[in-house]
Amino acid sequence: MEHPSLQETFTRVYGRPATVVARAPGRIEFVGNHTDYNGGEVLGAAIDRFVWVAAAENDTGRCRFHTVGGENVVEWSPEIAARPAGDEAWINYPLGVWHSLADFGLARPAGFDVVVAADLPAGAGLSSSAALELATALALLALARTAIPGKDVLAKIARHAENRYVGVPCGILDQGTSAHGEAGRLVRIDCRGPRFSLVPLPAGLTLWVFNTREKHALVDGMYATRHRECLEAARLLGVELLCDLQPGPALDTRLAALPENLRRRARHVIEEHDRVGRVVAALQRGEIRTVGELLFASHASSRDLFENSTPALDTLVELLRTQRGVIGARLTGGGFGGAVMALTDDSFTPADAAIVQRAYATRHSREPEVIKLAVADGACLL
Ligand code: GLA
Repeated sequence: MEHPSLQETFTRVYGRPATVVARAPGRIEFVGNHTDYNGGEVLGAAIDRFVWVAAAENDTGRCRFHTVGGENVVEWSPEIAARPAGDEAWINYPLGVWHSLADFGLARPAGFDVVVAADLPAGAGLSSSAALELATALALLALARTAIPGKDVLAKIARHAENRYVGVPCGILDQGTSAHGEAGRLVRIDCRGPRFSLVPLPAGLTLWVFNTREKHALVDGMYATRHRECLEAARLLGVELLCDLQPGPALDTRLAALPENLRRRARHVIEEHDRVGRVVAALQRGEIRTVGELLFASHASSRDLFENSTPALDTLVELLRTQRGVIGARLTGGGFGGAVMALTDDSFTPADAAIVQRAYATRHSREPEVIKLAVADGACLL
């Protein structure tokens, strides 16, 4: 499915039609909070909210960027060393991909024009940035007439763009899920490889997102701080990455030697990694109540041990817990704001979601945005 006004916008802005269109989905993190860059497992799902990129080559050696609904065209020469900033900072994602393609030895166009469209809210923790990276990678490869590499490589190119050129030390969850997603299936990632596999979501279950629309002002800094704390805890424990360790009595003894904050971070990551395996086993056995308990336990661990929840996210999880039809709920993604995901059975309706919205609004300033999701296919050229 194409975005309704993408082509028309491209032709209006650049005076000729786009020659390629790519689309990539956002994702939810089903379970596995901050396990990815710690060498653990994570379970994500591509969602039916997307970023589209329409593109065509130009012969100026420069690149131009525009968004559907936006006012300006941002023009940039990719060879300029400085990073775009302020209102133009978002073009670091597609520019980063352009650089990343060369780092992976792949051909790319010298100059190109781009229009981006999205029906994925930015800042909700649903990975609009990874979707933009993947859709850009596919579009630029198609413009350069380069054979499209496998999904593993696409995910690595996109993650490299974010780590190296945007400067966020994220793991492979977002890009891996957006690349490997399949309708009706969760993407299981063993982040050490990384190795990807698919786990069917049993019939009769639905995913919802409750977006607080709050973004912690320091969110990127907090993510980097947690990343550093985890690496430091691993160093003090004498392992390369935290998920080299298993939960159990021996772990408790080893953790006792760590400073209090690092002990909490390490315990969260190691137990959360273990929880991912337990969620997969419960899904495969059809033990849906157990899945729900593990999702709530994941949230409690993020809140109390990893300390990346907020009062708004906690309120949503608390309200959802008491609603009929809700199986489990937890913060999804980096945390420090963003959204909660809920897994429900088919008895949970938009009217039930509205009850949660109204109850939330009595405690916080405004209603959360509610999105009912379907689990969708991954990034592709259209
Ligand atoms: C963000 C990052 C991911 C992952 C999650 C937390 O979404 O981009 O790589 O670390 O946070 O699990």
